[in-house]
Amino acid sequence: MPEPNHYQRRTSPRKLRGEYYTPPELVELIISSFGTVKANDLILDPACGDGSFLAGAAARLAGLRLSPEEIAKRLVGFEINPDAAALAQERIAGTIERSCDAGISPAKIQVVVGDSLEYPKLDRLLRAAGVAPPTGRLLVVGNPPYVEAKRLSQAVKKSLKARYPDATPGAPDLYLYFLHAALGWLRKGDSLAFVLPNKFLIAKSAFNIRNHLIERRRLRDLWFATHLDLFPGTSVYPIVLFAEAIEQNPERDSVGLSWLGNDEGSLEIVNSLSVPYETFEKTQSRCLFPVPARPALRSALDRMLASPTRLGDLLDIRWTVSFHRAGLRERYVTDHPPDRYAKRFLGGGPFAGNGEVTRYRIAWAGHWILYGQEELRRLGNPLPDPELFTRPKIVICQNGRTLRAAYDDAGFVLKDTLLAGLLRDEVDHPLIRHPQALVGLLCSRTVHFFCSHVFFGGHVGGGYLHFLRSFLIDLPIGQWSEEAARAVAAEVSALATDLPAEERALREERIERYVSGSFGLTPEEDEVVGFWAKSDRNWQARDRVRPPRRVRVTAT
Ligand SMILES: C[S@@+](CC[C@H](N)C(=O)[O-])C[C@H]1O[C@@H](n2cnc3c(N)ncnc32)[C@H](O)[C@@H]1O
Repeated sequence: MPEPNHYQRRTSPRKLRGEYYTPPELVELIISSFGTVKANDLILDPACGDGSFLAGAAARLAGLRLSPEEIAKRLVGFEINPDAAALAQERIAGTIERSCDAGISPAKIQVVVGDSLEYPKLDRLLRAAGVAPPTGRLLVVGNPPYVEAKRLSQAVKKSLKARYPDATPGAPDLYLYFLHAALGWLRKGDSLAFVLPNKFLIAKSAFNIRNHLIERRRLRDLWFATHLDLFPGTSVYPIVLFAEAIEQNPERDSVGLSWLGNDEGSLEIVNSLSVPYETFEKTQSRCLFPVPARPALRSALDRMLASPTRLGDLLDIRWTVSFHRAGLRERYVTDHPPDRYAKRFLGGGPFAGNGEVTRYRIAWAGHWILYGQEELRRLGNPLPDPELFTRPKIVICQNGRTLRAAYDDAGFVLKDTLLAGLLRDEVDHPLIRHPQALVGLLCSRTVHFFCSHVFFGGHVGGGYLHFLRSFLIDLPIGQWSEEAARAVAAEVSALATDLPAEERALREERIERYVSGSFGLTPEEDEVVGFWAKSDRNWQARDRVRPPRRVRVTAT
């Protein structure tokens, strides 16, 4: 396997193995989605690895009865790693030879050893490859490297920012630069297809690009392949994004969504749907997501998306305590009787996770934090203002099979596996007056249905969802009367105590009625959401939370 290149050197060796190279079945499906590839089209892979996309394109071009040389002229790859580039040339030459029954030297395959991101402009990129701009279409394909910003060196980050100042604010992953650059290369009539990680659908760093794709009607199709284990042994959940040039189709009003399936070993599109662009304009985070195919589920989701009040209007959601330096947690978190700076801490033990917060409830494991703000600031690890924790708040778990939240008016300090939702007391809203009702709403199956779809890009291994502030603010709230909020708050207070399972179920069902009413779901929509939840593995596992290890029973 090729050596890591200078972008990848800082990632784990495992990630550097060929596991990320795209399987030929997916390449074939993507290339065939471009329709007939013509003899004057040019296929470009800006990060071609061992050449899987270009080999797939070569096989297609061979169907046009072109000579090996003519085929080779229609293909251009860039690869920063010379070993991978050489493998690509051999592989593509081999494919051409097999398809044409005539040989071609690997040296004639146009794979440039170099950094494609050095060329924000298409003409310069093609000049670097010694190729003239095509008279037909430019088809940009590939699976750009997914390297997190924190693994890129400062020098690389700086030069990327300088070359692509408008790509995206903050510190984006490398794949976003590839997408940004490639979108800039497209001319009218050209197309792009990139295999991307599902987090593109939701990541804050990808906001600008999503917004641009939606606003300028450049997004043509999205394929969901996250469930297929296409990159075995890795934690990559891929989607495929298809885009076109600016102003190519200003009247376009919908995006094609497709689900891939793996029937008897062959990859195929099993379901497709056309979804109006407007659907993706209804969240502040401009997330992209799979819309359910079933009409009643679709209208339920539309109704929720139409809700004008969002969680961010009622809660100021904040990050909590992080110990980003080794050894600090051990020094500042204790299970001994407290000294005068100590505060009760949730998520405190090593690898404690967030099991102290279940749906509706907090069960403190007994950790304390020595809240030495000044000392920790001196050590370069600032803590939030303690007032963040003393005010009544909604505690929200950042990871889980479902959204888990509980009300805290006991002033727990929270570790960063938990988010603090501070009530916006200045807002005149029944859910602010009855904050426990917010907990009922967040823990409900209707809201889980929403999160599973709209926050789909937050899915990680085993179906866990990641709930980040940047998308939780978009969560719809519905419309609440004082009476409904009071009733749900009472149910939640009861659910925060030990109750027999049957009684819990009854109380939860009552909450569901209010929640579905707050969104104005029809009885049919409500019923179908209920059926959906019955078959959703995460919802079924909603109460299966690994309990925290208790350190001691301490009087509080
Ligand atoms: C995820 S692999 C995908 C390869 C191929 N497109 C595929 O789908 O099988 C990404 C490749 O990009 C290469 N790469 C990383 N940075 C690059 C850059 N700036 N220019 C060109 N290639 C780059 C890596 O060496 C790696 O081989």
